Amino acid sequence: MLNVTKILVTGGAGYLGSHTVQQLTHYGYEVIILDNLSNGHEDIVKNVLKVPLIKGDIRDSKLLEQILRDHSIDAVIHFAADAYVGESTENPAKYYNNNVGGTLTILEAMKKSEVDKFVFSSTCATYGIPQELPINESHPQNPINPYGASKKMVEQILADFDRAYGLKYVCFRFFNAAGADPNGELGEDHQPEPHLIPLVFYTALGKRSSISIFGSDYPTQDGTCVRDYIHVLDLAQAHLLGLKYLLNGGESEIFNLGNGEGFSVKEVIDIAREVTGKTIKVEKSDRRAGDPAILVSSSQKASQILGWQPQYPNLKTIMTHAWQWHLKRHGDLTGR
Ligand SMILES: NC(=O)c1ccc[n+]([C@@H]2O[C@H](COP(=O)([O-])OP(=O)(O)OC[C@H]3O[C@@H](n4cnc5c(N)ncnc54)[C@H](O)[C@@H]3O)[C@@H](O)[C@H]2O)c1
Repeated sequence: MLNVTKILVTGGAGYLGSHTVQQLTHYGYEVIILDNLSNGHEDIVKNVLKVPLIKGDIRDSKLLEQILRDHSIDAVIHFAADAYVGESTENPAKYYNNNVGGTLTILEAMKKSEVDKFVFSSTCATYGIPQELPINESHPQNPINPYGASKKMVEQILADFDRAYGLKYVCFRFFNAAGADPNGELGEDHQPEPHLIPLVFYTALGKRSSISIFGSDYPTQDGTCVRDYIHVLDLAQAHLLGLKYLLNGGESEIFNLGNGEGFSVKEVIDIAREVTGKTIKVEKSDRRAGDPAILVSSSQKASQILGWQPQYPNLKTIMTHAWQWHLKRHGDLTGR
């Protein structure tokens, strides 16, 4: 009988998780999703992904041990987390409990069940304010909010679990995920939505009256913040390559994932006007505390070791895919 590799994907009903599950099943992996649906979509799992969904929490150690054992899981890809920077500052307990406590629960269950391969979604928020650009993996990590700090703590736990118990992990510190499945079946749908590109499209669709630009006096080409946007399918592809690397006996590694090119908030809004053909009203606001002027990644290491190259580096393509998804998912309320 053919030996199928079985992967547990936590947070597989969410934005990045759903795109990664789609890729995994496409390449013949058997996938089980564990998601508490706090921010995930059951309809997407049922109607599009069509893989088993276990509705439960990563902090439930008994459930985790049962899943790892009963399904003979070979590796875990871990997306489940709370990921709102602002909320993490107001309610740090929630972030340390879910992101650190939850991940530790998974890792302990894996240790008990002798599952030793783990792919982890960390974040560029572990770096804090950049000291040099582009940011590479050896840049100092000084997170400036509990969200980034919670992910950095997990990175420390992973290093210690490798040293003590031989856990092998790939940790991806990624920049701004954007875009959607080009076939329009999957995309970003957060409640509330914190990310710029969907918020700009909500404005185009008439779900919001305007989009705020926080700060127009940064030392950038047009005064607005510059960020590195990476297509969600390119991130999903990187997770597959990271998984294969571990299954082939690779040592633990940390990789940045980004486009290597930055786009300003103003450029994003201009491209959105082009892609949608809509008027998008802008309101200028003050800077937000802790927003660095520029965040751009170097992904050379992922390219050298994993052979990863973004397939959709063009921001207009990324935004066109996202627009098609939002039109289909939310409908156009403007009648224009
Ligand atoms: N979206 C980005 O731009 C970005 C950037 C850097 C890092 N990340 C990281 O990538 C991961 C996925 O991000 P996303 O944008 O897909 O988020 P998401 O909110 O769309 O997905 C997270 C999923 O995890 C589930 N979940 C949360 N807590 C859970 C728990 N305790 N038990 C079970 N399920 C739980 C949610 O229901 C949701 O389906 C997160 O770890 C996030 O920190 C995201």
